[in-house]
Amino acid sequence: MKIAVYPGSFDPITYGHLDVVLRATALFDRVILGVLVNPHKSMPAFPTAERVEVIHDAIGEFFPADIAARIDVEPFDGLTVDFCRQREATFIVRGLRAISDFESELQMAHTNRKLAPQVDTVFFMTALEHSYLSSSLVKEIAAFGGDVSQMVPAAVARRLSARGRGL
Ligand code: PNS
Repeated sequence: MKIAVYPGSFDPITYGHLDVVLRATALFDRVILGVLVNPHKSMPAFPTAERVEVIHDAIGEFFPADIAARIDVEPFDGLTVDFCRQREATFIVRGLRAISDFESELQMAHTNRKLAPQVDTVFFMTALEHSYLSSSLVKEIAAFGGDVSQMVPAAVARRLSARGRGL
C-alpha cells in the first residue's frame, strides 16, 4: 500500500490545498494530511483542533465518499519524516504554486531525503486557478471583511467570518 503524508500548517486550508489532496489520491492508496501543531512561521490563527476539524468538514463537503475514505487528517509535532515513519508513509506530498516556492521546497525535499532516504517527496503543480492563493492572504482579506468564498471551502469561510475583523 502506497501511503503519502501531505504536511502543512493549513492555517487555514484553501482550495489550492484541497486540489493537491485530490490529485494525490489518484497516485496514493492513502493520503494523510499532517497538520503541524506549531508552525515556526508565526502563531497559527486557528488552534490545531480547529484546523483539523475544518479540514474534515471540507473533505466531507468536497470529495466523494470513496475518496474521502482514503484520506486521514492528523495533527503532528516534530519532524515530518518522523511522522512519516510512524505512519509508514514513504512519500511526502507538497504543492508548488510558483517558482518562488521552489527554492524552499527543494531545500526541504533534499533535507528530508537526507534524514530519511526511504521517504521521497512528490510535488504537484497547484492548479492554475488556485496558484495565486495563500493561507496568509486569505486571513488578511477576511480580517478586512473581504470575500474569501472563492478561495476557501464554506467551512473555512464561516470560521473566518466568525472570527470577525482584525488580524
Ligand atoms: O504549510 P507550510 O507552513 O508551508 O508547511 C511547512 C511544513 C509543515 C511542511 C514544514 O515546516 C515541516 O515539515 N515542518 C516540520 C518540521 C520539519 O520536519 N522540519 C524539517 C523540514 S526540512
